[in-house]
Amino acid sequence: MAKLNPRQQEAVDYISGPLLVLAGAGSGKTSVITRKIAYLIETCGIKAHNIAAVTFTNKASREMKERVGTLVKGSATRGLTVSTFHNLGLNIIRKSTKPSALRKAFRYLMIRIPSHC
Ligand SMILES: Nc1ncnc2c1ncn2[C@@H]1O[C@H](COP(=O)(O)OP(=O)(O)O)[C@@H](O)[C@H]1O
Ligand SMILES: [Mg+2]
Repeated sequence: MAKLNPRQQEAVDYISGPLLVLAGAGSGKTSVITRKIAYLIETCGIKAHNIAAVTFTNKASREMKERVGTLVKGSATRGLTVSTFHNLGLNIIRKSTKPSALRKAFRYLMIRIPSHC
């Protein structure tokens, strides 16, 4: 596992507010996020079920899950959310809505969304 550079480490350690990591492809952004998740769970004592990592693509969320899995062992990652924002939204709706209301909403969505979307 590569050692983080000082700026990456700084981004991992900063937990007192929102943080934007803006850097090029392959520069170590995902490493910062995965190490930060490990840091939050293992050092800060934050329960995994209180952490949500949101990606744009399914491929990115699969990769992130895998990388967190190699950093944090055992049951400590139980309940961790790593998903696309589409899936996160869907899961929130699923958990907070009665199945009948959900069926109705999806019927509505299927009617409303044009086929090219
Ligand atoms: N500080 C570092 N030193 C050496 N290798 C690093 C460092 N940070 C990340 N890497 C490696 O560089 C590659 C790309 O890192 P990644 O976190 O996937 O970047 P990004 O998400 O910005 O595309 C990975 O193989 C990762 O292990
Ligand atoms: Mg990445």
